[in-house]
Amino acid sequence: MKRSCLEIARQKCESCMGCALSNSRSNVVFGEGNPSSAKIVFIGEAPGEMEDECGRPFVGRAGQLMDEFLADAGISRDNDIYMINTVKCRPPENRVPSEEEKAACHKFLVAQIDIIKPDAIVLCGATALKTFVELDKKQTISKVRGKWMTVTVDGVEYPAMTIFHPSYLLRNNSMEEGSPRRLMQQDLAEIKNKFLNNKSENFFETKEMAMV
Ligand code: URA
Repeated sequence: MKRSCLEIARQKCESCMGCALSNSRSNVVFGEGNPSSAKIVFIGEAPGEMEDECGRPFVGRAGQLMDEFLADAGISRDNDIYMINTVKCRPPENRVPSEEEKAACHKFLVAQIDIIKPDAIVLCGATALKTFVELDKKQTISKVRGKWMTVTVDGVEYPAMTIFHPSYLLRNNSMEEGSPRRLMQQDLAEIKNKFLNNKSENFFETKEMAMV
């Protein structure tokens, strides 16, 4: 059922001309994962060059690094998560998608979350976070990451955590205590522990929410 609903959404997305990004795309990058088993939706920023070529999310350098972190954390990309982006077409030169582009694509993001009904959402980096939360100037990614909050999508509340975007980790190699890569490991371990060890149904009752 989820699979067939996603297929309908994918077909609509593939013919979408809702913003200028549709003119320059090679492929729509709708999303990837097993909707029957995925408990968490990971939201990235936008497809890059490789993603545009292949029509699959998170397959370039940043995606490969993400795969390594997921595997280390014992999170299965094929079974545990469904990966999507705030926009489904590549912005030229990999620039950050504009508010208009994000707004034009938002209906697909909402449809994907509505269909998958995940137990939790993981926001990879600032663009994904800002799609759901208005940040004030003091709220940098470094301060917000790793904290559970609630995001509302189409009237439904989901536990959500922001993590560093893997592109940021490509530029920060250190594995020292407190480094971005170590914090990423910590955050993924927390996500795995809360939502992929059969504890998720009690999340709202047992967890004190740290609101952004
Ligand atoms: N690949 C994606 O699909 N999204 C990102 O945000 C980064 C790389």
